[in-house]
Amino acid sequence: MDMLEVKVWRSQDGGGFITYRVPRQTSQTVLDVVTYIQRELQPDLGYRYACRVGMCGSCAMTVNGKARWTCRTHVGKVAAGGKLEIAPLSNLPVIKDLVTDMSSFFDKWAQAKGSFTGAQTRHEDFARVEPSSRGRRAADAGIECIGCGVCYASCDVVTWRPDYLGPAALNRAWTLMNDERDIEQAERLRAVAGDAGCHSCHTQGSCTERCPKSISPTAGIAGLKRMAAKAAMKGDL
Ligand code: SF4
Ligand code: SF4
Ligand code: FES
Repeated sequence: MDMLEVKVWRSQDGGGFITYRVPRQTSQTVLDVVTYIQRELQPDLGYRYACRVGMCGSCAMTVNGKARWTCRTHVGKVAAGGKLEIAPLSNLPVIKDLVTDMSSFFDKWAQAKGSFTGAQTRHEDFARVEPSSRGRRAADAGIECIGCGVCYASCDVVTWRPDYLGPAALNRAWTLMNDERDIEQAERLRAVAGDAGCHSCHTQGSCTERCPKSISPTAGIAGLKRMAAKAAMKGDL
């Protein structure tokens, strides 16, 4: 039987890679490999997933050096020579083995005012936002984020300055800045225009290259920079 050689990061005793041999299967995903190891070889291996279909964003890991969603990553695409190295996401503290603590990642969504604030009540009719309008198209381009953290783990500015809000939180802020129903746009722009906000991005685009949902946080961050510059010129920042 064809076997894969899989190095997996284990966090005990200061951390290190342990090598496992896993049977090769057709259409096998990296998450299938990790699940096999946990069920058949290493029952105390810590890892996380929920949906297995690219919806929940919980299964992201570093696979052969790159952050990826493991449930939609086929072994055949990434295991050159039948070898895999699987580690937790970068830029986040490790709880155990392949499980990272996502608290700082989601705290930054809150810092970037990444939640919707509307003015209408349930007694009013639905707001109608024209699908072809510029704002709606800009918001739609970034709205399918699943919060997987792949972009955040791939961003070297986050590595250099851990207070940087990062691509996902800024992408979320950008979608809301383009939502004509939201009433907290001035506060949000102030929140993302600070030192640790959009101006820290060097626009080289690792986040965009790696995002499994084909979102471009780089483009959204560039939009935030333009908005912040305009507001500063008008004296609104
Ligand atoms: S383009 Fe900006 S947000 Fe994206 S990885 Fe680079 S520095 Fe980070
Ligand atoms: S922008 Fe893409 S890579 Fe980043 S958290 Fe959202 S889905 Fe994941
Ligand atoms: S397990 Fe839900 S996105 Fe991979």
